[in-house]
Amino acid sequence: MAQNKAWTVASFPDAELKEQHFRLVESPAPSPKEGEVLVKNLWLSLDPYMRGRLSQAKSYAKGVEVGDVMTGETAGEVVESRHPGFKPGDKVTAPAGWQLYWAGKGEMLTKVDASKAPLSLFLGSLGMPGRTAYFGMKDICAPKPGETVVVSAASGAVGSVVGQLAKAWGCRAVGIAGGKDKCDYVVKELGFDACIDYKAGSLYADLKAACPKGVDAYFENVGGTILDTVLRLMNVKSRIAICGLISDYNTTEPYGVKMFRSILVNRIKVQGLIVFDWLERYPEGNKALQELFAAGKLKTRESVLDGIEKAPQGLIGLLKGSNFGKQLVKLA
Ligand SMILES: NC(=O)c1ccc[n+]([C@@H]2O[C@H](COP(=O)([O-])OP(=O)(O)OC[C@H]3O[C@@H](n4cnc5c(N)ncnc54)[C@H](OP(=O)(O)O)[C@@H]3O)[C@@H](O)[C@H]2O)c1
Repeated sequence: MAQNKAWTVASFPDAELKEQHFRLVESPAPSPKEGEVLVKNLWLSLDPYMRGRLSQAKSYAKGVEVGDVMTGETAGEVVESRHPGFKPGDKVTAPAGWQLYWAGKGEMLTKVDASKAPLSLFLGSLGMPGRTAYFGMKDICAPKPGETVVVSAASGAVGSVVGQLAKAWGCRAVGIAGGKDKCDYVVKELGFDACIDYKAGSLYADLKAACPKGVDAYFENVGGTILDTVLRLMNVKSRIAICGLISDYNTTEPYGVKMFRSILVNRIKVQGLIVFDWLERYPEGNKALQELFAAGKLKTRESVLDGIEKAPQGLIGLLKGSNFGKQLVKLA
């Protein structure tokens, strides 16, 4: 019988997440019951939202409990099926958590066509982060050709798709990212028009120069001082999609936004975005992203850690920007 390894939650962090908050547990792989499927997980996605699950604060989704397997999405292969919709060898994404094997109801799985793209992409640009970028851009940022779109965490899983959609839709795409290497990648590989290194110390002046006609749409992944700086450059009747506030995730004291006045005087539409709200339209997002990928207009960079043992260090690093592209753990 195959052996499972799973990371469980040992305790909740007060502020900064550390390895001690997780515990690695070994047990025999589970057996599927009637209507269930056993999946061998090949890739684990690490995502910033996981920090929010390690908390008892009110949020849009239920958190994990101490002792639970840490929550997360995987891409893997069906090894045994007691559900008519799946057979061994099928490639799927699953809400399997941080573990090597998962058994659960077939209805919880999504079958993916791994002949069209590498399996890991269904956790990144062709998966949840890609759909987040697509619906946030389409329905909230709603840019018209010629408009300027700014996105923070621009080299990451969501941000990289936002900017490439902006280019595909005829806009000026300006990224904000941490460090020269990330910014060079965003411009030279992803085709953004400009990318500002917020760590260089002159974000406002640099962003102003990169957005000579101001900012029509801002896709926010970071919050804090970056949001305050972009607010100073927003145009009248512009839009902001609040997708993430990662600069606040590891703190007990959230940053208080100071430039609220800009929302008033510029009549900015600001809307929070949780990708699950578009569940019924996922097929539309998947189709659009897969078409862009097939046309060679959706590039992805992955940051891969080898082995389930590395999962905690991967999430801790993601919350500090040590990933460069979509953060994954290769499980097999
Ligand atoms: N609302 C939704 O439905 C939804 C869905 C998916 C993701 N999200 C949000 O989207 C954002 C991006 O997620 P992702 O999966 O694409 O992650 P990612 O961008 O691939 O990785 C996170 C990046 O955030 C940046 N970062 C980390 N700490 C920071 C800090 N203190 N200040 C500034 N930047 C920091 C780092 O980039 P730099 O090195 O460039 O700073 C890091 O590489 C997150 O806020 C996430 O919570 C929301």
